[in-house]
Amino acid sequence: MKIKAGIIGCGSITRYRHAPEYQANPFVSGIVFYDRNMDRAQILAEEFGGSVAASMEDLINDPTIDVISDCSSNEYHHINSVKALLGGKHVLCEKPISLSLAGAEQILQAQQTSKKKLMVDHNQRFTKAHQKAKQLIESKELGEVLTFKTSFGHAGPELWGINKTKSTWFFSKERSGLGVAGDLGIHKIDLLHYLLSDEIHQVSAFQGALDKKSATGEPIQVCDNLVCTVKTAKGRLGTASFSWTYYGEEDNSTIIYLSKGIIKIYHDNEHQLIVLNKDGETVKYQLEAIQTNDNQTNSRVIDAFISSIINNQEPPVTGEDALVSLKVILAILESAEKETVVNINTNLSKVK
Ligand SMILES: NC(=O)c1ccc[n+]([C@@H]2O[C@H](COP(=O)([O-])OP(=O)(O)OC[C@H]3O[C@@H](n4cnc5c(N)ncnc54)[C@H](O)[C@@H]3O)[C@@H](O)[C@H]2O)c1
Repeated sequence: MKIKAGIIGCGSITRYRHAPEYQANPFVSGIVFYDRNMDRAQILAEEFGGSVAASMEDLINDPTIDVISDCSSNEYHHINSVKALLGGKHVLCEKPISLSLAGAEQILQAQQTSKKKLMVDHNQRFTKAHQKAKQLIESKELGEVLTFKTSFGHAGPELWGINKTKSTWFFSKERSGLGVAGDLGIHKIDLLHYLLSDEIHQVSAFQGALDKKSATGEPIQVCDNLVCTVKTAKGRLGTASFSWTYYGEEDNSTIIYLSKGIIKIYHDNEHQLIVLNKDGETVKYQLEAIQTNDNQTNSRVIDAFISSIINNQEPPVTGEDALVSLKVILAILESAEKETVVNINTNLSKVK
């Protein structure tokens, strides 16, 4: 079986992950690029040996295309992914699935109507260290998870996106919507749900635009930092920090404290997973370095998406998973705005 891919949006995530990973996947026969900035599509088509669609309609109506990656900016996901699903394509939508619950629900509805696969790019689940940590937690050899802390921060999206200036859409309220919470925070919420087989049910948070300035010199319209405390459905307690102002070094670390020991993930550059047990024994695992903005490795997301199509299986990160994480992020932002604890009703389908 051969699969042809279309990509909407030819910026950084397409250049560094979607295009090279489709190109490397043995089941993918070709890539068609579309961007409303045609030059960007043309450049990637030349670089990765694909072709260019002249319009979104041409891309979606092309009967040779089986799957579409929606790599447009956040405010368009609910428009582009819905069009692609209803046009009969399997869709890999970038995160956050949408800026609003209504937008996310439109995408889920389109998936149900079309019966096509929908996956959302929460790539943290696919790293070897996170998968090993999940396996250790599920084995219960370190007992029960009690508390946790997680961070995700780098020096800012104006160093990553294709527009490397202060006028980047990542700083705009209408376009990025959720600031660092929707950009980096939502990855860690999805990771916590995945690692703990649990869901976050209560949050309290503080946020601010502490350092980033817009092109006009004003503080940006969205948060560049957010810190929060969370409580899960199973009663676990944790803290999380998300930042666009970690200048000098990225932080992508998580620590899980269990009743018989500790799991440290991405705390040590050489040993991506370190396990300390109650009796003083330490086991260090060398797995693989985490992806950073400067060091891109295969995220395994495209391979997982293609595999779910070939084997006709549910994708490993569903629209429902992404919707639940979006609910938590919206609650975190609401908590920061109202300066109060916010409860989340997530309809616990997956919590056992
Ligand atoms: N999964 C991850 O780890 C990860 C990492 C970075 C970005 N992202 C997500 O990927 C998406 C794209 O981010 P990026 O960093 O590539 O941004 P970017 O600014 O580098 O590129 C976005 C591209 O999309 C194009 N575009 C926007 N709206 C469009 C539309 N309606 N039709 C056609 N083209 C359109 C723009 O012209 C631009 O070329 C965002 O949703 C972002 O949150 C995910």
